[in-house]
Amino acid sequence: MVWNKLAPKYDHFVTFTKDPLLRKFQKAEKRTLFSLISREANNDNLILIEIGCGTSRLLFRLIKSKTYKKNALKIKFIIGIDDSDSMYTISSYEKDKQMRNKKFPNDIKSKLKILKVNAGEWKKLEKKIKNNVGSKNYKNCKKIVFCILNTLGIMHPNERKKVIYSMAKIAGNNGILFISTFNAGMFKSYAPRIYDEIKDITGFFDDNSFDSINNDFISRDYYYSHWFNFNEIKDDLNEYVNGKINTRLLNDIGIITVARIEKLIDKKENKWSFYFTRPPELDHKNSISSPKTAYNKYQKKKGF
Ligand SMILES: C[S@@+](CC[C@H](N)C(=O)[O-])C[C@H]1O[C@@H](n2cnc3c(N)ncnc32)[C@H](O)[C@@H]1O
Repeated sequence: MVWNKLAPKYDHFVTFTKDPLLRKFQKAEKRTLFSLISREANNDNLILIEIGCGTSRLLFRLIKSKTYKKNALKIKFIIGIDDSDSMYTISSYEKDKQMRNKKFPNDIKSKLKILKVNAGEWKKLEKKIKNNVGSKNYKNCKKIVFCILNTLGIMHPNERKKVIYSMAKIAGNNGILFISTFNAGMFKSYAPRIYDEIKDITGFFDDNSFDSINNDFISRDYYYSHWFNFNEIKDDLNEYVNGKINTRLLNDIGIITVARIEKLIDKKENKWSFYFTRPPELDHKNSISSPKTAYNKYQKKKGF
């Protein structure tokens, strides 16, 4: 899987990107999500779930933030979901390391769960989350399920549909979805700049890698990313969510979709039966990193 290979380099490139617009976007994305969390914590006990959390860099930021400090009593669980072995290893390693840091909030040990599971398989995902938080908490807490930094864009379209559906099922009635994607309107002008900066991650690409009709990028190493039209996520969600779905541009480059689910619309599951695995081309080359190699490389990057 492409993300096993990328895991050790990922944080470095994303966090330390030199691109001013991408940096600004990431700050705005974090601010927008954290203020949503603060607002909701005024009224409800929360379970926060990040889909495709990667190395959990955002979750660790949240834990160290004023947003967490202020709302610690209301935030009952923070859950990171990722199905890449290497990302999971790095997240777990980071969690263990942070737990040894005295400044890290004490209560986090039991609240932070990092779970390795495919987010597109909602029954397995739900079971895993329930096992970790307890059925009572799962039922009684409001769930905010979020997916940031165009993570939905890097999924194969079939898998993406399954993951969006799964996010809605996990959030459930009264739950909230927060989805941040890249804006197709900026694909032509901006995508070449972004991918040029992270070519160490994407691998070789040229002009043919940019499909500006479908707003898709694919490198020779099969790093794939789709950029979204303004209402693309909203239209997908409308198929199975009754409620308020708001969409807005964020710093031109991003689109934020927030859905407040009033009631889920039942969907015939068998319609989804073909949305299961990653397409073979995205699995191609497999992982060059075993979890252990990823872990060692990560330590080196961080200067241990
Ligand atoms: C672009 S990275 C984003 C990481 C993180 N959200 C961040 O902002 O740093 C995408 C992550 O999604 C994960 N991912 C992709 N498809 C997934 C799926 N179906 N289930 C769970 N994780 C998935 C990948 O393993 C990868 O770690």
